[in-house]
Amino acid sequence: MRINIVYFSGTGNTAWVVRELAHRLEDLGDEVHAFSCEEIEPCDERLLDGDVLGIAFPVHGSWAPRPFRAFLAGLPPANGQPLFALACAAYAAGDAAWYAARPLAARGYAPFLYGNVFMPNNLIYPVPTREQVRPILEKAGHKIAHLAPLIHERRRHLEGVHPGGWLVGLIQRPLAEPVEGWASHRLFADETCTQCGWCVEHCPVGNIELVGAEVYGTGTRGESLRWGNDCLLCLRCFHGCPRQAIQWGDLTRNESTFRRYPGPDGRYHPPSHRA
Ligand SMILES: Cc1cc2nc3c(=O)[nH]c(=O)nc-3n(C[C@H](O)[C@H](O)[C@H](O)COP(=O)(O)O)c2cc1C
Ligand code: SF4
Ligand code: SF4
Repeated sequence: MRINIVYFSGTGNTAWVVRELAHRLEDLGDEVHAFSCEEIEPCDERLLDGDVLGIAFPVHGSWAPRPFRAFLAGLPPANGQPLFALACAAYAAGDAAWYAARPLAARGYAPFLYGNVFMPNNLIYPVPTREQVRPILEKAGHKIAHLAPLIHERRRHLEGVHPGGWLVGLIQRPLAEPVEGWASHRLFADETCTQCGWCVEHCPVGNIELVGAEVYGTGTRGESLRWGNDCLLCLRCFHGCPRQAIQWGDLTRNESTFRRYPGPDGRYHPPSHRA
């Protein structure tokens, strides 16, 4: 069976889950092709020629991150294409997998599995230590091992589709965008920024701009880099900056309390961008 999976990953957790799942499915005899939504267009035929389509994303306030929702909205209508959705969460996934797949179900896809995989938290606080990350990944690995045969056999398995899941979703979703909008405007590069350009190059939505090196060094926040208004708060820049120069307000200068999440495999290098 050919299984295509498209995902978004901010800091590497979802990419890790997809890779582990692909290995499990391949062990079961499936052919798996995984694509980041940053490297493929929704109408690309490589996504659509499989027996099953999978989607995977980090939970942001009981929903999928905005650009991934836009990507899913661009997928062509289907005629009964079996679909599974995986939500990578840190503390409460709610009904995110079901909710993100709903528009696809309305356009002819046939969801048979919604799964939640709990991964290390990548929000600003509390980011787990390396020692704490290990058992979380181990548990996530067991969960993936449990889900793989269900996907392989296209068994019906619906996590988060119950009053508890809906309630979490109902509470979190209306708050998510205003909170993300407010929080994203607190990101800035401090005086230790070397203008290496890593964050500019790797922001999934091109939201960071390098401005005048000549003004850099004054210690004035926002002088070396400028953040636009499209931030989805994936926190790739915050966690991935090699100098830990990106701060969220002044709080996060305290690196022992506000450590950066290095990702399950070290700093996440997303597949090259489409644009
Ligand atoms: C803006 C934002 C919102 C989040 N909201 C939730 C949430 O509602 N529930 C949850 O369990 N985890 C939440 N998380 C944690 C991430 O979903 C989790 O760490 C995920 O594994 C990150 O995956 P990634 O590395 O592929 O981006 C949130 C993270 C961010 C950055
Ligand atoms: S990745 Fe860090 S050091 Fe490099 S430009 Fe961005 S903020 Fe500056
Ligand atoms: S500015 Fe940073 S947090 Fe916002 S979308 Fe870009 S990489 Fe993600």
